[in-house]
Amino acid sequence: MSFAVSPQPGHASRGNLRIQVTQSQDQWAAAAAEHLACVLRAKPEACIGWPTGSTPLPLYAALRRRAAAGTFDASGSRAAMLDEYVNAPEEFSSYRWLRRQVWAPLGIATVLRITEDGEEFERVLRTWGGCALQLLGLGANGHIAFNEPGAAVDSRTRAVKLTAETAAANAAYWGGRFTPAEAVTMGMATILEASAILLLVRGAAKAGVLRRMLQEPIGPQLPATFLREHKNVTIVADQEAAAEL
Ligand code: PGA
Repeated sequence: MSFAVSPQPGHASRGNLRIQVTQSQDQWAAAAAEHLACVLRAKPEACIGWPTGSTPLPLYAALRRRAAAGTFDASGSRAAMLDEYVNAPEEFSSYRWLRRQVWAPLGIATVLRITEDGEEFERVLRTWGGCALQLLGLGANGHIAFNEPGAAVDSRTRAVKLTAETAAANAAYWGGRFTPAEAVTMGMATILEASAILLLVRGAAKAGVLRRMLQEPIGPQLPATFLREHKNVTIVADQEAAAEL
């Protein structure tokens, strides 16, 4: 099922946001993979921005299967990191996680690592022509990458402190073996410069925040609302996440 969402009356939006709601995890992963394949067919050397987290796991598994079967080729593409913990032991770094989950199995060799030198990261990203497609997860508190509530629409790549909620969610991801306190993140403005954005949303725990991001006034209280100002956003949601729409 696909449908367009109209902006709320009175809220400025140039956006033309599309939502694809899928019925099973396999369909969810296939829909997201097809979106990515479409971008890479048009531009094999495109830069893709890759998120970590639980949400993209079925997509990444599907991409690995397709790459192994020879039906998906991202080996000529370039990869940019969306965020990274600050002062994390290497085994918990997002860089290592993405290399194992995505880049090595997909044969992607050209990777832009995000560091606390946000200006240099953005300079290189610009020489690459920016991200043709930025994949994103949706934080339960409405964060995008590590742009926590309060982040400005014109924020750039920088170091940030994580909220207690986000730190706890990340600690849970690592089975309590590592609790991050700080991170570097692409800023909202940096993310909104991508040519296209694919927001990945899965599971009942995200139903409330997905509804809020589409209904609340656009503003820093819920950074995900800023995506409504972008002209090319697709949301791939499963039925559980779309339950409140
Ligand atoms: P999750 O995180 O995919 O692990 O739910 C999403 C996010 O916090 O951006």
